[in-house]
Amino acid sequence: MAIDFSERFERVLADAKTVVVSTGAGISAESGVPTFRGEDGLWKKFRAEELATFEAFQANPRIVWEWYSYRREIINKIKPNPGHYAVAEMAGLFDNFHIITQNVDGLHKLAGSEDVVELHGNIKRNLCVDCGKMNYDEEFEAIPPLCSCGGRLRPDVVWFGEMLPAGAIERAFKVSKSCDLLFTVGTSGIVQPAASLPPTAKQHGAFVVEINIEPTELTFIVDQHFRGNSGEILPFIVRKIKEIRGIKS
Ligand code: OAD
Repeated sequence: MAIDFSERFERVLADAKTVVVSTGAGISAESGVPTFRGEDGLWKKFRAEELATFEAFQANPRIVWEWYSYRREIINKIKPNPGHYAVAEMAGLFDNFHIITQNVDGLHKLAGSEDVVELHGNIKRNLCVDCGKMNYDEEFEAIPPLCSCGGRLRPDVVWFGEMLPAGAIERAFKVSKSCDLLFTVGTSGIVQPAASLPPTAKQHGAFVVEINIEPTELTFIVDQHFRGNSGEILPFIVRKIKEIRGIKS
C-alpha cells in the first residue's frame, strides 16, 4: 500500500514529543468487532435505548445481560489486528504517548498497550450497582448476577445518559490539550465528549490526523485525512516514523 505523506506531516512526525491516539469502533472492525453506525452497525439492528441505558437495565436486566453476553462471546473469540499492534509500537517511538479509546473490547491492552484510557469502560468487567465493587467473573449462577453484597451486577460500560469515568475524561482532555499530534482513528466523531478531543487538540495547536474508511463529522477540522483501513494505514505510519528516525524495522 502506498500513502502520500505531506511534507508538513513528515515534519510533525519527526518533531512530535507528545502524541495522542484516540480510537473508536473502527479500529477493531478488522478484528471482527461490529461497529455501531455503519451499514451493519449494531445500532441499525438493535435499539440502544432498550439495551444500553440504566433504565433498560432496571426494567429488564435479563435482556440487557443477554445482549452483553452475546457481545462478550464475540469479543472473547477475537484478537487484536495490525492497527492495535501499530498503536502499541508507537508508544516506544515518542517521548510521551497516550491512548484514549471509546472501545470496551480491551484489544489495545491485548496488543501490548499498557496504559489505555478507556472512556466507555470495559465490557469484560462487572460493577455492583449497590457497593461499586468490580470483578471480572464470566460464569454466573443467576441472571442478573449478584455481587457478594447482594446488589445487582451490571457490565462496567458507560450507558447512554451516564457520566464517563471522572479520571478518564479529565486525563483525556488534559493530554489532548498538551499534545503536538493527535490521531483520531475509526470513530464517527458523533458521541460526546469523546468527539470533542480532536477539536480540543486542534484549538491548542496540535496537528490532527484522521484515519477512517470514510469522511466523518471530524474530517473538516483535521489537518490530514487518510482514507482506508486503520489496520493498513497505522502500520504504514509506524514504518514511516522509524524511517524518519533511522530505526530499522
Ligand atoms: P461508530 O460505529 O459510530 O463509528 C465507527 C467508525 O469507524 C466509522 O466512522 C467507520 O467509517 C469507521 N471504520 C469502520 N471500519 C474501519 C476500518 N477498518 N478502519 C478505519 N475506520 C473504520 O463507532 P464509534 O465512533 O466508536 O458508546 O462510536 C462511539 C460510541 O457510540 C461507542 O463507544 C458506543 C456507541 O454508542 C457506548 O457504548 C457508550
